[in-house]
This record gives sequence, C-alpha cells and structure tokens, in this order.
Amino acid sequence: MSDADAPAFGVQNFGVYVHWPFCLSKCPYCDFNSHVRHAAIDEARFLRAFAREIENTAARVPGRTVTSIFLGGGTPSLMQPATVGGILDAIAERWAISPDVEVTLEANPTSVEAERFRGYRAAGVNRVSLGVQALDDAALKELGRLHTAQEALAAVAVARASFDRYSFDLIYARPRQTPQAWADELKRAISEAAEHLSLYQLTIEPDTPFFALRAAGRLAIPDDDTARALYDTTQEICVRAGLPAYEVSNHARPGAECRHNLVYWHAHEYAGIGPGAHGRLDLEGRRHATAGEKRPEAWLMRVESLGHGLVADEVLTSEERADEFLLMGLRLAEGIDPARYAALAGRTLDPARIQMLAAQGFVESDAAGCLRVTAAGFPVLDAVVADLAA
Ligand SMILES: C[S@@+](CC[C@H](N)C(=O)[O-])C[C@H]1O[C@@H](n2cnc3c(N)ncnc32)[C@H](O)[C@@H]1O
Ligand code: SF4
Repeated sequence: MSDADAPAFGVQNFGVYVHWPFCLSKCPYCDFNSHVRHAAIDEARFLRAFAREIENTAARVPGRTVTSIFLGGGTPSLMQPATVGGILDAIAERWAISPDVEVTLEANPTSVEAERFRGYRAAGVNRVSLGVQALDDAALKELGRLHTAQEALAAVAVARASFDRYSFDLIYARPRQTPQAWADELKRAISEAAEHLSLYQLTIEPDTPFFALRAAGRLAIPDDDTARALYDTTQEICVRAGLPAYEVSNHARPGAECRHNLVYWHAHEYAGIGPGAHGRLDLEGRRHATAGEKRPEAWLMRVESLGHGLVADEVLTSEERADEFLLMGLRLAEGIDPARYAALAGRTLDPARIQMLAAQGFVESDAAGCLRVTAAGFPVLDAVVADLAA
C-alpha cells in the first residue's frame, strides 16, 4: 500500500471480482464479455482454473482481508451452486475473509435460475442482483430478454425469500418510452424493491445489433430532451421513495449501498478473476491495472499453462491513478476528498476551474472540504470530469 493511501484516507477495502462469461443468448444492446455456447460448459474445468488464478493472485497480494466478492457476468446464475461454492472456498483458502463480507451474485430472472437461489445462499452468497431490465413484456422482447415481467417478479419474490439483501436492474430511455410510462413502471418496480435498485439509461454501444439498427434508422431511442426528462423523473421518484442515487445509476436506502461497487468508486484495491476481468492491485506502492484474456477457452488454456489468464498488467502513472480516482469518485453523490487527489497526482485540482464549475452550479464543496457534483451537474458529468482533470 502506498503512502498516498491509508492511514490518512481511511480503511482500504479489498474486493474480489469473478467473471462468468456465458449467457443463454446475446442481448442486442450488450457489449459485455459474454458468449453463447451450444455445448455444455465444463464447469469443473473452469472452477479449477478460477482456483488457480485466485492462488496466483493471492501470491502477488497476500495478507489482504476480503471485504466483498462479486460474481458478475455474463450470467453467473447459469453456474451450479457447487461451482459457486468452490469459487468462494478457493477465495477463503487464500485470503482472510471479513466477518461481514458482502457476496453478490448477478442473476437473470428466469424460473430455472431462481430455483438455484437457495443453493447459492447455502454456498455463501448473501446478496443477489437481478437483471430485470423492464416490467413490460413488449420492451423485454425488444431487448432480447428471455423472461417475461411476470417471471421476473416471481424471481424477485424468490430472491426476497432467500436473501436479506437483493437488488435489481432496470434499463430506461428505451425505444419510444415516455416519461409517464417510465414513471408508472418505476413506481411498480419500487414497490417490489427492498434496499437497492440500479437504473441504467440505455446506451447504444458500438458493434452491437442495436448500434446497427440505429444507424439504419430502425431504432428510435428518445431524443436528448426526452432522455433528460426520463432522468429527472427517475431522480424525483426515487428520492420520494427513500432510494436516492448514491452513484449516477445506483439507488439505495442509506447504508444499503453495494459495498463491492464502492470499492471501484472509492478507487480501493480489487482482484479481477476470470475471462476479461479487470483488477487493480497495489504492489510495492505502485498500482497495477490488470486485465484477463477475454475469450473463455483461450483464458482457460492460459491459466492451465501459466497459472493466470492476464494479458495486461500495467503500472499506472500517478497522473493516471489520480484521474481514475477523480473519474470514479465523482460518480458518487458523496464526492471526493481533494486532498487524496492531490496526494495521488502530486498537484492540487485547479481552484479556478472548481470555482467556475461551482459558479455554473455543477459542483459544490461541503464543510468537510469534500468536492461533489450537484444534481444539475450529474446529467453533464463527463464534461465536468473532463474539465476538472484537464
Ligand atoms: C452485464 S449485465 C449482467 C447481468 C445479467 N447478465 C443480465 O443481463 O441481467 C449488467 C447490467 O448492465 C446493464 N446493461 C448492459 N448493457 C447495457 C446497455 N447497453 N445500456 C444500459 N444498460 C446496460 C443491464 O441492466 C444489466 O443488468
Ligand atoms: S444476459 Fe446480461 S450479460 Fe448476457 S448478453 Fe444479456 S445483458 Fe449481456
């Protein structure tokens, strides 16, 4: 751990991200590292490779206490509970585990997957994040999802019965969506939510079928004014329901934030395990940015021959590290400590720029000196960050 981190800037958490790269079908908007295979997946072989990469990573960063684990994808709920249990055991064999560790598994809300929830809980998972995406069957179909709204709600009910903590994701700013229709859908969703909701504005990613459809004029997504109205509707309804945004797209009751994602946004340390997983490891005071081979079978072969599947392992410069801290931290409603930025970058943020952005109403500083983006600044967050980092 470098001098730029603890103890002056509080306790450093340590997260472990494990990527399961398979899905039953590919959604037309998705550019995540997810693959469809028609033959059965050899889970035992993947489990051995995960355990090996965990062992290898722990040898590089020993002595950490794991505060959160996130099994993401792809569709991790396609794994057998025994595979999930094996991954969690492999992590516990190599690192100490915090008594209040948060263990999240991303799940698709089909009935088949919900049947595994109790098995996941028995394996050590204590939180699920469900990809509900919409509560409207026509929209679900257009998004290429394999579940109906009713099936998703049934999976949410199983999650509620199986776990103390669960969250679900919705995508808004979908084709032809109006603020009124979204308001109704969101209120319905909130009535099913407990402590946490992730609400993502549909992004048209390059190299996806949605990108090609839009380029061909066959996908009418909301224009900027409608997208802004949809965003404002989201904030109003969630604040009124006691689920304010603690991050650009994530809403929670105070204290129920996703601790694992906070590791990223606080720029703490995390291990990335599995195909295409990213990590940030602190070795001898220097931060390494790691990335795994994305193709699942190539990743397997790399791990089997080298002990790890990394294809990138770069030391970040202090400037890169400080920019990452700024970029991630300003996504949070709580904002950042400018002193930590200065310690990382070796220079302070430009006071004239802060003053200008504050005069425009986009940022503010609190009594403790934290710098944060305001409600007016969040819709133009990218521009605010670019301005501050310049
Ligand atoms: C990579 S997915 C993994 C979870 C699970 N496979 C699923 O789809 O339900 C994580 C979340 O990212 C969001 N997401 C993925 N692509 C998106 C896009 N192009 N625009 C907005 N949200 C997106 C979805 O809400 C999804 O639940
Ligand atoms: S199920 Fe999730 S990860 Fe898989 S393709 Fe769809 S959005 Fe992407």
